[in-house]
Amino acid sequence: MEKVFKIGNRSFTLDQDKAEEAFAAKKVINGRKTEAFNLLPLKYTWAYDIYRDMKANHWEPEDIQMQKDIEQWQGSDLSDSDRWIIRMGIGYFSAAEGIVGDNIIHVVRELVTAPELKLVLGRHAHEENVHADSLLYMISSLGINPHECEAMFEQIPTIKKKNEFVTRVSHELRRDADMTDPVNKKKFARDIFLFGQCMEGTQFYGLFGMILSLYRQNKFPGIGQMFQYTLRDESNHIKLLRHLFLELIRENPEIWTEDFKEELVQTMIEAIALEKEFIADCLPVSSVGLSDADFCSYIDYIADRRLEGVGLRQLNPGIQNPFPWLAETMDIKKEANFFEQRVTEYQKSSSLASVSDDEL
Ligand SMILES: [Fe+2]
Ligand SMILES: [Fe+2]
Repeated sequence: MEKVFKIGNRSFTLDQDKAEEAFAAKKVINGRKTEAFNLLPLKYTWAYDIYRDMKANHWEPEDIQMQKDIEQWQGSDLSDSDRWIIRMGIGYFSAAEGIVGDNIIHVVRELVTAPELKLVLGRHAHEENVHADSLLYMISSLGINPHECEAMFEQIPTIKKKNEFVTRVSHELRRDADMTDPVNKKKFARDIFLFGQCMEGTQFYGLFGMILSLYRQNKFPGIGQMFQYTLRDESNHIKLLRHLFLELIRENPEIWTEDFKEELVQTMIEAIALEKEFIADCLPVSSVGLSDADFCSYIDYIADRRLEGVGLRQLNPGIQNPFPWLAETMDIKKEANFFEQRVTEYQKSSSLASVSDDEL
């Protein structure tokens, strides 16, 4: 018996019995292993939907003008704390983007078995490359010594501690972990929670907030714009890893114990503490018109949204967002600018390519 499957605006005819068999063999972990990339029939449709959203957000650093940023960097209108925030931003993210990409490619994408999950995770890792490339573009445009970034990663204790906090979990899960072992299943779930909700979802937000505050004051418009696009990508990464986490728990309910839930909450508590120490380093004096205390309560607010998103207890129920304007600055979907036109062009050229492929 044949059945038509639809994905986006495409439709495919599949043998129903074989399709059901293949569908049942798809799992987040411990599913059918195949050399071929059997995307169809699609089981995790959310993964493909996120992949399509990611594609539609494609951007390239060189599309963004840095002239004004260079003038400001070389001029005398900026305060030392404005420059310090930019240096901390570049120093921290230069290492962090790589650490996330490494975990996605060498841990998460390796351990999942369904091809549509591998597809979207491949895109995730690629976007971390774009982010790393955007930092390189900022460093070269402003004329910052690249060794200075590496030195920050090595020598600033709050950056070092944030990075060690995530890498010690991902290093335990390199290839060949036996994923039928509940201990490893928990480690994997913790890795996905840690990277998606604690690191990308919470620890990135201190600097995002500070850099976008500068942007709001017309400081570093090019860097601000790049961070806006990065943040839009991060929202998809957080969503992707949240879905993946929930699906993993749904398929492996035996690991969802009270003890494990508490372990995850404690992981978030540690992430928040590290982020607050880091914020104090970024804002040694109240700067960008915002206080260290406001940023800390912003982190508490964000962390609760992440915990809530995966069904864990909140740490500060009812906490308000101290920066409601930030949500607006972060939501760039409504904004019409030259860059949105470029995005449309990328979409157009990709749909043209797929038309010609079909015709071959
Ligand atoms: Fe990133
Ligand atoms: Fe990311």
